[in-house]
Amino acid sequence: MKRRKFIFVAGAGTVAVSGLTYFLNDNYQNHKYIDRINDTWRHSIKFDGSNRAIMIELIRYATLAANSHNTQPWFFKIGNNKITISPDFTRRCSAVDPDDHHLYASLGCAAENIVHAARVFSLEANVSIQSDSAEVIQIDFEHTSSSQSELFKVIPKRQCTRAPYEGKKASAQQLKVLEIIAQDTGISTQIFTDTNDLETILEFVVAGNTDQMRDKAFVKELKDWIRFNPHSAMKHGDGLYTATSGNPTSPTFFGSLLFDMVFNEKPENDKYRDQIRSSAGVIALVSEKDDIEHWIKAGRCYQRFALQATAFGLKHSFVNQAVEVPEVRTQLANYLNIGNRRTDLLIRFGVGTDLPKSLRRPVSEVIV
Ligand SMILES: Cc1cc2nc3c(=O)[nH]c(=O)nc-3n(C[C@H](O)[C@H](O)[C@H](O)COP(=O)(O)O)c2cc1C
Repeated sequence: MKRRKFIFVAGAGTVAVSGLTYFLNDNYQNHKYIDRINDTWRHSIKFDGSNRAIMIELIRYATLAANSHNTQPWFFKIGNNKITISPDFTRRCSAVDPDDHHLYASLGCAAENIVHAARVFSLEANVSIQSDSAEVIQIDFEHTSSSQSELFKVIPKRQCTRAPYEGKKASAQQLKVLEIIAQDTGISTQIFTDTNDLETILEFVVAGNTDQMRDKAFVKELKDWIRFNPHSAMKHGDGLYTATSGNPTSPTFFGSLLFDMVFNEKPENDKYRDQIRSSAGVIALVSEKDDIEHWIKAGRCYQRFALQATAFGLKHSFVNQAVEVPEVRTQLANYLNIGNRRTDLLIRFGVGTDLPKSLRRPVSEVIV
């Protein structure tokens, strides 16, 4: 064989073998990822019924809560009939969340799951917030009769589904329940389903998104939390695995290059247009006071909303761009007519199909 032909055949062979190896390895990693997901998103399996084992199980349920960028910014401590939750500031996202609003809201989401799971173990959870303490959420338990709520049942089913939905409406009854379930003392809600309202809210989301896409620190931080393939997602047990947002997987090196090439303002804004226009509605959570206590409460309210939506068979995902950029948040506040109260979270919901779920770190890593 001539030398040039030999080099060509050898080169093509190497590419083919590398491709096949990547394909087989990717397939293998996908199977492993699905095993990890099945082991993560489940109800309790048999465990010794000691008080400590129950507390650990409650913490496992807590970690299934939504949390900003899937950073899982929490530590849990088990006390005497008590669990406390503290922020893990090493996981803060200073670009998107400079005041730690989302970080504290994430702790609230985790606390809410504990409340619903506790009743299954005959425990009533009393949640108190101590904003000036490192152990900012204290959950004390007292005995009660065992019960299993609809919200508890769907804890392992809830996910943030970042995809276009099917354009179907939610029923008036569902909207009423969703609007009320996400309220608390100091937290109010506004639900929008009218096309004109949704188009206006969409423009705030696009304005916020445009601002963020032009912010190098925001983009870098987001990229740092993206996991481009199942192997990377499993290695970290946290972060935003591309498949969970309906995006392709790839080796980290290529994913990173591709991200730089395709993560652009226009397609991203168009994506949010499709997402909001195909949703049944958007809900805004608004707090009376802009402080840690209310951020945590807003997180609890979101988690209740999300579980109820899931129980109704509805999907949801955050469109927080409009509340993350301060100037846009002010414009949105004017539109919502809420004076100087803070819009904490903005969430769309509708009828759609599940995407792959995201992972969590092992419970042992978050118990101190
Ligand atoms: C306070 C808070 C803010 C969030 N903001 C956004 C957001 O702006 N955009 C988004 O797509 N997801 C957002 N999320 C969702 C998280 O990314 C999601 O919960 C996490 O990746 C874990 O995925 P899962 O909820 O499907 O389990 C937010 C979650 C929380 C609790």
